[in-house]
Amino acid sequence: MTRLVTSEMKNLASAAEIINNGGLVAFPTETVYGLGADGLNENAVKKIYEAKGRPSDNPLILHIQDISEVEPLTIEINSTAKKLMDTFWPGPMTLVFKKSAIVPPVISGGLDTVAIRLPENKVARELIRLSKTPIAAPSANTSGKPSPTKASHVFEDLNGRIDMIIDGGSCDIGLESTVIDVTTLSPVILRPGGVTFEDIYKLFPDVSYDKHLTLDTITDTVKPRSPGMKYKHYAPEGELFILEGNIEKVQKYILENSDENTAVFTFDGIDFDLPYVRSLGTSISGSKLFFDLLRECDSNGITKIFALMPDKKGVGFALYNRMFKAAGGRIIKL
Ligand code: TXA
Ligand code: MG
Repeated sequence: MTRLVTSEMKNLASAAEIINNGGLVAFPTETVYGLGADGLNENAVKKIYEAKGRPSDNPLILHIQDISEVEPLTIEINSTAKKLMDTFWPGPMTLVFKKSAIVPPVISGGLDTVAIRLPENKVARELIRLSKTPIAAPSANTSGKPSPTKASHVFEDLNGRIDMIIDGGSCDIGLESTVIDVTTLSPVILRPGGVTFEDIYKLFPDVSYDKHLTLDTITDTVKPRSPGMKYKHYAPEGELFILEGNIEKVQKYILENSDENTAVFTFDGIDFDLPYVRSLGTSISGSKLFFDLLRECDSNGITKIFALMPDKKGVGFALYNRMFKAAGGRIIKL
């Protein structure tokens, strides 16, 4: 059975005990809920893949609670990594380093690198501190489903498959962390998130996006360096289409192509006279609601979602990236 508990101290102590005994605990972070296990215990980590139904070549992030914990897990921390850690940790940023021998191969999906993150969320950090081990944690959803931003989402997906869920309320950011490769001096963004291209550019004008992120089609020829980005992801049960172009044409298209099971994701200030319309707010604030709304559509039998194209600046680019994946690359240009 899965225990759903509050984030009070005595529950975090029993969560740490579960981690130390090789069990699975879902916990809140500022990005999305994570499904945690002792990152240095190979058998425990294997249970994560089983519970999620996750392909085993998709590596996991190790979560730490102090910068000093990076050193034993890596063989090199270059000046780029140091500066990024000092500036953006704790926070929604994951760094990819060359891994040391103590990182089990099951964590890194056969790569010679390891992804590490120091989250800001206090519950997450307290759990890691009490567990006295790096906690391996992917997003706590069934593989392929939208990432969970509330404890109830985790319960929906994983009840009966994991030992405990710590309820820490809604996640502040609502999209997964920015993943940055720092194995070379020029940082490469493998997955966009709450720490933005613009934020990093201020420190490193040579920052770049991994090639697959700037394509507006899904292709097999450009392999993402972050293995997780190649999988079908975040898919709602209904089909999602992103609409781009002249707003009058977009509004007309949506009105002409909607039925009673169609949802519209819009932004503040653009209204539709249809029954199921949800505003994401702005492109920036929309990141917080997106996954939650995908799940809401699923539970209301929505078969088609029309989503307006976000403004791709700042966190808007991360929102666009998740929307694009949820849409399976379908953009309707008008
Ligand atoms: O915000 C987050 O990052 C959340 C919370 C729980 O921390 N975690 C998360 O984990 O999103 P997950 O497993 O759903 O996504 C991790 C991503 C995947 O795309 C994976 O392929 C990539 O990071 N990744 C992990 N290790 C890597 C490595 N060594 N090299 C390149 N990419 C890596
Ligand atoms: Mg995930």
